[in-house]
Amino acid sequence: MEKKNPGTERKVCVTGAAGFFASWLIKVLLQLGYHVTGAVRDPGNSRKVAHLWALEGAKDRLQLVKANLCEEEASILPFWDARASFTQPVQFLLFSQAEIIDPTVQGTLNVLRSCKRNPFLRRVVLTSSSAAVRIREDIHSSSVLDESSWSSEELCERLKLWYALAKTLAEKAAWEFAKENHIDLVTVVPTFIIGPILPPGLSLTASDVLGLLRGETQQFSLHGRMGYLHIDDAARCHVLVYEHAAANGRYICSSSVLDNHELAARIAKRFPWLPIPKRFDESYGKVPAYTFDTSKLLNMGFQFKEIEEMFDDFIQSLKEKGYEI
Ligand SMILES: NC(=O)c1ccc[n+]([C@@H]2O[C@H](COP(=O)([O-])OP(=O)(O)OC[C@H]3O[C@@H](n4cnc5c(N)ncnc54)[C@H](OP(=O)(O)O)[C@@H]3O)[C@@H](O)[C@H]2O)c1
Repeated sequence: MEKKNPGTERKVCVTGAAGFFASWLIKVLLQLGYHVTGAVRDPGNSRKVAHLWALEGAKDRLQLVKANLCEEEASILPFWDARASFTQPVQFLLFSQAEIIDPTVQGTLNVLRSCKRNPFLRRVVLTSSSAAVRIREDIHSSSVLDESSWSSEELCERLKLWYALAKTLAEKAAWEFAKENHIDLVTVVPTFIIGPILPPGLSLTASDVLGLLRGETQQFSLHGRMGYLHIDDAARCHVLVYEHAAANGRYICSSSVLDNHELAARIAKRFPWLPIPKRFDESYGKVPAYTFDTSKLLNMGFQFKEIEEMFDDFIQSLKEKGYEI
């Protein structure tokens, strides 16, 4: 039977709290009245965490604790009395195989080991990635990828897609650990996240998008075809699958799937004064026009924001931060 502790009913923990996505998730959780413990590597680094303290409700309901997810002991404390752990182990997009795979898989398992010791824990919500779903040999132009789809580890290795391999192995390891240890795990599988930026610097993905708006093609040429998602939808989906008692398994979270040329045409129409590229290399060959089946979320009443709103909000926040585009 679930243990009750009134003090922890609305208490949740978010790892990697100062990052691009986690910061927005914390903003949404605070808006909804949650008490949030944010785990960061250096809570004393005021440059990195000031944006969290500036959030509405932070002074009363946010605490920041130190945790390096790659060190098991260090990750235990923050989670001991939270009802939920929103965990999104580390984002290393461009690193080598050794630098990304072990930290991502072990970081995930360390958080789950900590969660296992928490008698009040109700659910762990893990942020996976569409990279754990869409790297497959058998994709064709009418493929509809749903929660049953997993990226091929062999193909990820062959193409040296270490981020995709790390996210695939980490999510699989999480499912195995949760099953063995009777942890209520739900995973959210977001596509490429765009929207307003809270942290002071740009995450890797945000700087890729800024590059695109400035006319660069290199990073987006690697993307080929991709699903896109507003950061606010990503956050609200995490909260939904935590709050919805019957939620279970994986949830693909994606608004539109577009190839580079379709994406560029939509943005160029919206922002005709920007030097949006017209042509991209097809680094991995022509990617078939797959889509994602998001009916699992849609059937829960979830609605996705469109590409235009993602870029409106992203560009607005770039301007507020003083970036030139
Ligand atoms: N952005 C996207 O488009 C996207 C799409 C799908 C899924 N995701 C997933 O969402 C998550 C967050 O992505 P993001 O774009 O928000 O990345 P991000 O801005 O780079 O944030 C990652 C955070 O992880 C923290 N971190 C890294 N190594 C750590 C460690 N050993 N211990 C504790 N914290 C550590 C970083 O902390 P420091 O500030 O100390 O460096 C940073 O705050 C990732 O799991 C990613 O795979 C992202």
